[in-house]
Amino acid sequence: MTFDIISVVPELLDSPFQHSILMRARKQGLIEINLIDLRAYGSGPHNQVDDYQYGGGAGMVMMVEPLDKCISELKSKHQYDQVIFLTPDGQTYNQQTANQLSLGEHVMIICGHYKGIDQRVRDMHITMELSIGDYVLSGGEIAAAVLVDSVARLIPGVMNDCSSALTDSYQDNLLAPPVYTRPSEYKGHEVPPILLSGNDRLIDEWRLDHAVAKTKELRPDLLADDLLADD
Ligand code: ADE
Repeated sequence: MTFDIISVVPELLDSPFQHSILMRARKQGLIEINLIDLRAYGSGPHNQVDDYQYGGGAGMVMMVEPLDKCISELKSKHQYDQVIFLTPDGQTYNQQTANQLSLGEHVMIICGHYKGIDQRVRDMHITMELSIGDYVLSGGEIAAAVLVDSVARLIPGVMNDCSSALTDSYQDNLLAPPVYTRPSEYKGHEVPPILLSGNDRLIDEWRLDHAVAKTKELRPDLLADDLLADD
């Protein structure tokens, strides 16, 4: 799967994709990440990409022309499953959207900055507007790293153990149950004996029970009505 990311500060994204799982996935050719510097499409001697907003008010707006040129050039070369704009006023990103995006082959991601982007870019090109939460970041780059990481780990082969991504929190609308590793006892705190029993059926039951209990306590909104009704 290929991610083309348009940014005015692509350097911000150098590190997140240079390590660990994402780097290995890139080396294996399972994902490709292209960082595109919007300034290359800016106008004038200073490669201007932002300007004051019509109607007045604080904050600069990313101009329509550089973004249109950049997006149009990319679209003329590739077929995109989605052209995504990362913005705090987008639809809230969740695991379901990550699952959906992981089925695609090529996505374009536009990182917003300043006060936002000229509405005409949104009208002309954007197919999906996503927010990673109800707070405002300085720009969309960190949100882009979140998006790419969460989608990439769902692509077959990216995780060493392919069942791992399927047992993450939010898959099945449940938070993940507690996990433990060696030693089995630490400063008087013991690992629940069932996890040491070797009985897969009992271990699965224990994990489900704890996942449901944790979700009821912390995120009851995720649970289906029938599970809550069991109380
Ligand atoms: N850009 C600034 N804040 C953001 C957010 N919460 N989600 C996505 N992009 C953003």
